[in-house]
Order: sequence, then structure tokens, then C-alpha cells
Amino acid sequence: MYTTAMATNGQHNSGAVGTLTTREQSRLGRAERTIAKGLKSFWEVGMALKEIRDQRLYRQHYDTFAEYCARRWDLSRPRAYQLCAASEVVADLSTDVDVRGLPESEAQARALTRLKLPAQRKQAWKLAVARAAAAGRAVTAKDTEHTVRSLPNLASMKPSGPPPGLRGLRDKVHTGDCVEWLPKIPDRSVAALITDAPYGIGQGGWDEMSRELAEVVVREALRILKPTGSFFWFGNNEVTAGMWGVFQPLRPRWLTWFYRNSSNIGQPTFGWNSQVIVYGHRGQPVFNLDAARVPYSANTSTHRVNHDDSTSRFGIRKNGQSQKCYHAGGRKPMDVLEFPAVTAGVAEAEGRWHPAQKPLALMRTLVAVATNPGDLVVDPFCGGGTTCLAARQLGRHFIGFERDAEFARKCRQRLASG
Ligand SMILES: C[S@@+](CC[C@H](N)C(=O)[O-])C[C@H]1O[C@@H](n2cnc3c(N)ncnc32)[C@H](O)[C@@H]1O
Repeated sequence: MYTTAMATNGQHNSGAVGTLTTREQSRLGRAERTIAKGLKSFWEVGMALKEIRDQRLYRQHYDTFAEYCARRWDLSRPRAYQLCAASEVVADLSTDVDVRGLPESEAQARALTRLKLPAQRKQAWKLAVARAAAAGRAVTAKDTEHTVRSLPNLASMKPSGPPPGLRGLRDKVHTGDCVEWLPKIPDRSVAALITDAPYGIGQGGWDEMSRELAEVVVREALRILKPTGSFFWFGNNEVTAGMWGVFQPLRPRWLTWFYRNSSNIGQPTFGWNSQVIVYGHRGQPVFNLDAARVPYSANTSTHRVNHDDSTSRFGIRKNGQSQKCYHAGGRKPMDVLEFPAVTAGVAEAEGRWHPAQKPLALMRTLVAVATNPGDLVVDPFCGGGTTCLAARQLGRHFIGFERDAEFARKCRQRLASG
């Protein structure tokens, strides 16, 4: 067993020295599994190493990050730092939907790590790719090196205008069109974009949705989300299905919000008691599993004796070994999330006034699972402000946009009293 001492590299000295909290242990476990897989792309390994380095998750058994890399992975400190830096480059490039193709090796990204601004990195990469394409071949590490060297102005390039920053934006609901507001949010500053978009089924003056609007929001989401960020978009099932292609850059999954307490009126054929939530991310997202566990059911509990042990456990893993035990908090959530809708009975309890108000418990779950305290959550179509309220209650920052001035006013009132 190694002794634990203060970090010696002097850069990453936040957090207590010594024993890891349960959450830190689970972060370490997740990051290490990524590295151990080995088959993961270099930038995923780099991101995992960066998390372990920056949060000092190695500290329980190793004195320094260098010692951790050497003993745990047979990796030199410079090599680990190269991987971390290259993963940051890929994260920057991946926020730009105009960037076609990402570096496939750490060597390809290495020269770009010398450029400090995301805009410089994007410009250099696009140029290197274009030059290689003109020569009829794929981009190489030499191409990026040559591009960075051949553009002396690149290294001294300044961002066009001062970065807008978050001052004045955070922890507020702003009245106006999100298309105009979203560009004010800085790149890679947001942990989760969680929104319940207009359905586009003529529910009222507020209910306008178009492919173009969804494209703008997705484009902005790619820009403002951190590499570990998550995207949740509630929509009408049929309208969302028609726009599925728009969400592709976020590698979308179709989650379903299911509620049993739907009203019995309105629709002459089959009624509604579900709504899609498009869930997307580009990198390894924050996923605080404990925040979203659900009870085991009769059929999931039969897995205890299922012959397929490699896939059927829901328990804790220790030292890489599976354990046949159930987690006290419940099983992992699946792609159907059940929460009562804010209709009669629930509406009174939640003080509903917005026609499309979503359950606070559902929004709290999404905020808690996809973000950490202090993170920033954005809701471009904030309506009655349920996402913002959930964020505030859980110690996250929020930014909300609402086009309807009266909704925005009432939303601010709700936040002030919630
Ligand atoms: C489905 S509701 C959101 C309800 C909210 N999730 C809640 O729990 O109260 C969508 C909201 O988006 C607003 N909206 C529609 N288009 C907008 C736009 N372009 N920018 C900002 N808000 C918009 C509508 O006025 C409406 O209040």
C-alpha cells in the first residue's frame, strides 16, 4: 500500500487528501474502466486521464499523478499529459459542426495543443484537412505540424471581440427568442441543455416548432456544451421523429417519459401517455447513476439466477469482480422514465400555471443525473421554468430563455418563491 501525500506537481491540489468519497470512487472507477478498455479512442483515454489528474482521483493509493500513471498504466507522465492535451483539442474541434472528421491519433492532434484558443485550433485543423484533401489523401501528423508552423499569425490570433462571459446571463430567465440569446453563451460552458421545446402541434401561440429552429438549437448546443455535457429535448413524438436527422451530431437516443395519469378526453382514438426525450452527448457524459436509480421489479430480480451472469448483474463491482448483490438504491434507469404528469391532482401540488408545465421531479432527476453542483444548466424554451427551478434547488446555475413576456414574468416569480 502506498502512502498518501500532498500532490507534488502543485497544479491539482483541490479536494481533501486521502480517502475518496463514494462519488469520487465511482468517478475513478468509471474513468479507469475507460482507460483499461484500451480500445477506446485516444481522446477518450485522454479525457479519463485528465479527470483523474485534475480531480486528483489517484490520491488514495499514489502520491502523484506521475506515480499513478507509471505504476497503474506503465505510462510516462509526459505521455499522459500529451493524451490529456490532445483530448482537449478534440473536445474543442467537436464543438464545431463545420469540422469534418476529428483527429484519429494523438500525434495528429499534438501540434494543435500548442495553440491555446479553440478558434485557433479549429482554423488550423480545417486548413490541414483541406490541404491534405487537395493532395488527395487523409490528414497526417506532419500536416498539422506543418500547418501550425506555417501560420505564425495563428499563435498570436486573438478571439474576435472579448468573450461574452456568463456575467449577467447566469441564474436568470431572459425574455426573448432563444435564437438570439443562445449565441451569447460562451463555448463549452454548459453542463446540460435540458429543454421542453414547443411541440409544433398548434397548442397555442407559443407552440411553434420548425426544423430550422431545432437546427439552430442543436448547433448552439454543440458549441456551448462541455465535452462531458448532455442534451435533453422533450418534444411531440411524431414531430420529433420527423426531425430525427437534426439531432444526429449528438448521437441521439430516444428516451420516453411515461405517465399513467393522462386525461381521458380530447383524442377520439388512442390517447397520449408518453413523450419523447431526445438524449444526446458527444463525449463521455456526466452520469450520476445514483441520482436516477429505480426500484427493481419482479422480472429484473429474476436476473439474480439468470445464467448470463456477464450481463445480468445490477450490483457493485469491486476490484474488477462482479458481485451478486443488489444496489440498495435500486437498479439503473432504462429508457422509459415514469413520472406523473402535471395534470389534475398533481397540478395543484406543483402550482401549475403554464399549459405545458413538466413535473419538477422529472426535471430534478435529469439535472441531478447529468450535472454536478455548481454546473450550469441551460433551458432555451423555459416556459414555466421547471428546469431552472430544478437546477436552482439542486445547487446548479441556470440560464433560461422564454419568448412570451408574460410567461417569462411568471416564471421569474416562481423562481423567486421556489
Ligand atoms: C413546452 S413549453 C416549456 C414548458 C416548461 N418545460 C415548463 O415546465 O413549464 C415551451 C415554451 O417555449 C417558449 N418558446 C417558444 N418558442 C420560443 C423561442 N424561439 N425562444 C424562446 N422561447 C420560446 C414558449 O412560449 C413556451 O413557453
